[in-house]
Amino acid sequence: MCLGRSSCFFCFGGTIFCYKSGTVSELKVLITREQIAEKVKELGAQITRDFAGQSVILVGVLKGAAVFLGDLARQVQLDSTFDFIGVSSYGNRPSPTHELKHGWDSTGEVRVTKDVDQSMEGKNVILVEDILDTGLTLTFLKKLILAHKPKAFKIAALLDKPSRRKLPIEGDYVGFKIPDEFVVGYGLDYAERYRNLPDVCVIPRQ
Ligand code: IMP
Ligand code: MG
Repeated sequence: MCLGRSSCFFCFGGTIFCYKSGTVSELKVLITREQIAEKVKELGAQITRDFAGQSVILVGVLKGAAVFLGDLARQVQLDSTFDFIGVSSYGNRPSPTHELKHGWDSTGEVRVTKDVDQSMEGKNVILVEDILDTGLTLTFLKKLILAHKPKAFKIAALLDKPSRRKLPIEGDYVGFKIPDEFVVGYGLDYAERYRNLPDVCVIPRQ
């Protein structure tokens, strides 16, 4: 499946290969789709228990959390609604002009590109994020949502890279703690690609 002019991925004999700028490298599967499905089921059951008899708003952080939110929501057996918030974090995303070998540290500047559509006041809000890395994005979003005065505020993150943390923030529902590697798939991207890979894979550093 070709995803662009200079980069694509394909599966051969169960291994995923990434073709980029004339070279082929292997994408190592870090977390399989089966492991993800099992974990998402556990997280959904935990949320269902914690908020039994109440309703929740699941707020996904665009775009990376879209896949996780879709699966998690179907494991949450509560009255629930969805919302989405968009942010751009300068400097912490690799792009064709910011290669992985130079790292992907955030400058700390987070900007809202799409705000939530409904009031969060007095509601049970679960912020759903793909990955907790330096913590800058979620610290910013937590402050923003707490200003709405929700009844409860929780963070669900599929992945957590604790060794990269710059601000002291933790998830309430965390899927997997992973080492300091750049990962893609299951919603996570590298320069907007690979979001549709069903497994979480490690991108090799060049
Ligand atoms: P933080 O503000 O440093 O915690 O960064 C969180 C955001 O950085 C996530 O929502 C992701 O969009 C992005 N990010 C951090 N690490 C990775 C990664 O390994 N792969 C893809 N995106 C990542
Ligand atoms: Mg994100």
